Amino acid sequence: MDIGIVGGTGALGSGLAVRLAAAGVRVTIGSRARERAAVRATELSERAGAPVAGAANEDLLAPGVPLAVALPFDEAAPFLESVRARLSPGAVIVDATVPVRFEGGGPRLVELPEGSGTAHLAARLPEGVSLVGALKTLPAAVLGRLETPLECDDLVYGDNAEARARVIALLARIAGLRPVDVGGLDAAATVERMSILAIGLNRRHKVKGSRWRVVGL
Ligand SMILES: NC(=O)c1ccc[n+]([C@@H]2O[C@H](COP(=O)([O-])OP(=O)(O)OC[C@H]3O[C@@H](n4cnc5c(N)ncnc54)[C@H](OP(=O)(O)O)[C@@H]3O)[C@@H](O)[C@H]2O)c1
Repeated sequence: MDIGIVGGTGALGSGLAVRLAAAGVRVTIGSRARERAAVRATELSERAGAPVAGAANEDLLAPGVPLAVALPFDEAAPFLESVRARLSPGAVIVDATVPVRFEGGGPRLVELPEGSGTAHLAARLPEGVSLVGALKTLPAAVLGRLETPLECDDLVYGDNAEARARVIALLARIAGLRPVDVGGLDAAATVERMSILAIGLNRRHKVKGSRWRVVGL
């Protein structure tokens, strides 16, 4: 396994799994229910033309293997707290969650005392475990359709430069995706707002796949 995806049966996690597997990355998707992960993994393997494995979320932790969290935001902290004791120094967690609520018809950022969703999760991790924010601005509707060229950037941040570089190297294997290093955890609040702006753009312009590309880099 090169990466485990917690909540990998969902829209974002499944899209990520298909893209990575098609690029030759060994992916295991997780679910609260092992059987659901297995069924979804079989479907995703067929779509990717390459194997995807399925497991229970809590069985995805493996030494040296990055773990991507693709759960609804409110579920991410409880999950990380539930596995906290098993996270060793050096572990790399990828935070794909967006702190968003749909109230009054539109997407609203959830304001957090730590300043961002990623900082909220980082505060719950043991010393030496690196949290890298990534995938937050990628629309699942496009990610999951292999036939649609991605043609976009992914904004990747986190305080540990080595962990950031590892995640960037993995995501760079996805065809048409350019992971861009945007620096430390301070970037999280901006990137999360960009996710919410993209959701708003989709609604306003009646599309499903608005996404970001940085020019001039
Ligand atoms: N959708 C997008 O376009 C997109 C883009 C960028 C980032 N994101 C972020 O990525 C994350 C996942 O998004 P998504 O659209 O894939 O979400 P989702 O489909 O609603 O949920 C993902 C998975 O989380 C698990 N789950 C659902 N409710 C849960 C609960 N109460 N407790 C524990 N696990 C639960 C489910 O897996 P099981 O039932 O199999 O356990 C589900 O398949 C979110 O934080 C979202 O903000 C989404």
